[in-house]
Amino acid sequence: MCGIIGYVGDDDETLSVLLDGLSNLEYRGYDSAGVAVGGDGLRVEKRAGQLDALETALDGDGGAFAGPVGIAHTRWSTHGPPTDANAHPHTDASGRVAVVHNGIIENYRDLRDELEADGVTFASETDTEVVPHLVAQELRRGRDPEAAVRATTDRLEGSYALAVVVAGTDALFAVRHDSPLVLGVGDGECFVASDVPAFLERTRDVVYLDDDEFVRLDAEGWTVTDAEGSVVDKDVRTVEWEAEQTGKSGYDHYMLKEIHEQPLSLRQCLSGRIDELDGRITVEELDDLSDHETVQFVACGTSYHAALYGAQLLRAAGVAANAYYAHEYATSPAPVSTADLVVGVTQSGETADTLSALREASRRGAETLALTNVVGSTAAREADHVLYIRAGPEIGVAATKTFSSQLIGVNLLTSHLTDRGVKRRRDFVDDLRGIANDVQAVLDESEAAAVVEEFVDSDAFFFLGRGLDYPVALEGALKFKEITYEHAEGFAAGELKHGPLALVTANTPIFAVITGEGEAARKTIGNVKEVEARDAPVVVVTDGVAEAGRYADHVLEIPTTDERLAPLLANVQLQLVAYHMAAHLDREIDKPRNLAKSVTVE
Ligand code: F6R
Repeated sequence: MCGIIGYVGDDDETLSVLLDGLSNLEYRGYDSAGVAVGGDGLRVEKRAGQLDALETALDGDGGAFAGPVGIAHTRWSTHGPPTDANAHPHTDASGRVAVVHNGIIENYRDLRDELEADGVTFASETDTEVVPHLVAQELRRGRDPEAAVRATTDRLEGSYALAVVVAGTDALFAVRHDSPLVLGVGDGECFVASDVPAFLERTRDVVYLDDDEFVRLDAEGWTVTDAEGSVVDKDVRTVEWEAEQTGKSGYDHYMLKEIHEQPLSLRQCLSGRIDELDGRITVEELDDLSDHETVQFVACGTSYHAALYGAQLLRAAGVAANAYYAHEYATSPAPVSTADLVVGVTQSGETADTLSALREASRRGAETLALTNVVGSTAAREADHVLYIRAGPEIGVAATKTFSSQLIGVNLLTSHLTDRGVKRRRDFVDDLRGIANDVQAVLDESEAAAVVEEFVDSDAFFFLGRGLDYPVALEGALKFKEITYEHAEGFAAGELKHGPLALVTANTPIFAVITGEGEAARKTIGNVKEVEARDAPVVVVTDGVAEAGRYADHVLEIPTTDERLAPLLANVQLQLVAYHMAAHLDREIDKPRNLAKSVTVE
């Protein structure tokens, strides 16, 4: 998830507006940054690293970057590691066209092959670079810049917010498809950006662009057209947020923003990985993976919960699989051989415990795979293979959207290991495609905020689940304790009567996760009855399939979906439970005491 900004206005301000915009967007991604300023000519500078690397490169040369129109980008890598060449803007060979992009061009391979066959030489490993080459090709065919950009976007599949400048043209062209893009209307100047904070210091008047809308900015102002080229009448709205909320897009906390970003991050995770025509799940990165008899997951914290879920998925699909705490595995590894695959689940890719476990597995001859969010992270570089979950940067210390994407990541891995070459069962693929909309429905309709209010003065909070709902119960409790500082524990529902039941009183609310039907759900309902008999208040998180709601004081509902995906939806409700309780208690939600986002010591 990258950040883009485009500007049309005062020649002498272009560069500083773009750099300020990038600094306000840096929360979206920060492994490289770049600018292009157009007008008569086109000047481009880009650098791997944080924004100051770009600023240093521009030092003393800023004057050359004057011009009426410019674009800039802060990158969170999805294709190709963070290098100067892979940083945006990307240009065509003649340096006439410059492009910044947020999203993933799914058919870039085919487009790149076609362009290379035409003699085009590529300078980067990115999917984006096909865009400036295609625009240049259209210009050579005699199209004007606007028509060239339109003709190019007609050929793109995937998700994109693009901003394009063409040398010799004082206009900027931008278009969006499944990636955010917003227009800012200032006094004698206009902006496009991935998010309002990019230009909030200069204007509060914004136009929210819809999918497939195309915008042209020039000295005359702005025009929005639809895919067919007809002018669209757009409302200009005034943003009311205060400066300190910038970066949070109007949400009170990054954590809440990231919870709400999940439909988008899940779409990104799946993008290009399900064949549109035959529903086959294909994960290019895993093509070279050998066949394995067993899979061992190593991970910590939230990622360990994703690992537990993944191990269960694989076992259910007939593969021997287990999840281990990485810190335990590093010192007392499970027996492992060359026939085994060891998967490090780590959103940051930098957790010292997980790196040690992966290194230990490698030393013992196992093939290793990193399931991570961060391109170029240590785990990604050191493991034999890497599967990116593409959740975009996560600022809140408590992991939310990365966990959901990890769950999808292990589903992709399971499909890859168990269904190679075989078409997935159609219903599962349909449900996988629908997961982003299902998460949106949970976010739109959740009653978690009202439910938790009742329990503010409780002694402790317990979370129960069985089967695939068990890792979610653990994760619900972890999230809850991390940000509320209240005592919360997750239990395997069946384990309750073997000890933890002694803790249950009328003042210990129980959150029971019960999804799907069948024996597991029926038995967990039995456990719910046990706690009810001890007067504990019960909140059931359920898809309603097993009619578990009948035994609850409150129900937090989720849409029905495949039983492998339902726990992901239940977890979104529990994220909201934790968030709203922490908000009631006025906790430091984004930076909980004593915790760090990435734990780089053992
Ligand atoms: C909890 C949380 C941590 C991490 C753990 C591992 O909200 O974020 O429990 O999951 O520290 O981190 P990664 O996934 O970066 O290896």
